[in-house]
Amino acid sequence: MVNNLSSQVDIVNHLKWRYATKKFDNSRRIDQETWSKLEESLVLTPSSYGLQPWKFVVVTDQKVKTQLAEKSFQQPQPADCSHLVVISRLTSMDHDYVEKYLESIAETRSTTVESLGAYKGMLTGFVDRTSQSDLEHWMSRQCYIALGNLLTSAAVLKVDACPMEGFDKKGYDEVLNLPEKGLASVVLCALGYRDSSDKYASHEKVRHPVSDVVIHI
Ligand SMILES: Cc1cc2nc3c(=O)[nH]c(=O)nc-3n(C[C@H](O)[C@H](O)[C@H](O)COP(=O)(O)O)c2cc1C
Repeated sequence: MVNNLSSQVDIVNHLKWRYATKKFDNSRRIDQETWSKLEESLVLTPSSYGLQPWKFVVVTDQKVKTQLAEKSFQQPQPADCSHLVVISRLTSMDHDYVEKYLESIAETRSTTVESLGAYKGMLTGFVDRTSQSDLEHWMSRQCYIALGNLLTSAAVLKVDACPMEGFDKKGYDEVLNLPEKGLASVVLCALGYRDSSDKYASHEKVRHPVSDVVIHI
């Protein structure tokens, strides 16, 4: 394994380059090869117990993006970006879901579902003792991990992005028919390329100093 500093990705510079893009260049689209890498990054997001209680709804249809922008509190990013990802949680989590997940572990790792009995007990126990409302919050929190992963991956690939909570969830769910897919929208990520007139690109980052927020013990 390569482990010298000069061969590592300069992650801090990538993270300084990124910013919450307010104005996308509507004429630019993310190419398929780059987009596929971003989808892979989303799928590789870790989740609690590995349960992945999400789906990523990718909207590129201009008509639908425009319709969604109208439900985004006057924010233009959903209409002008190249790809809008509506990070959505499942509306429910039950024993069937857990069973399918265990089957996929067994298949991927060439083992049997029976050998995963203890893990199954842990997962079904978690699902059984957690209220619907707590499960929904838990699933939403997992969605935010995907958002963070997507933002960092986009920065490394020099794709601009804007994380967005400023939207009408009910309105999005209706436009995208999410309830009938067993989904509810949680958070958005608009991706594409910054417009050269976006003055936010040159704003200094406002962050607490490392010494204020990192506590060494
Ligand atoms: C979960 C989340 C939701 C956000 N929602 C919006 C939004 O609706 N509209 C927007 O323009 N920016 C939104 N932002 C961007 C933040 O305002 C921005 O990330 C923060 O001010 C730091 O600036 P920077 O990302 O440019 O470094 C959101 C950021 C996060 C992480």
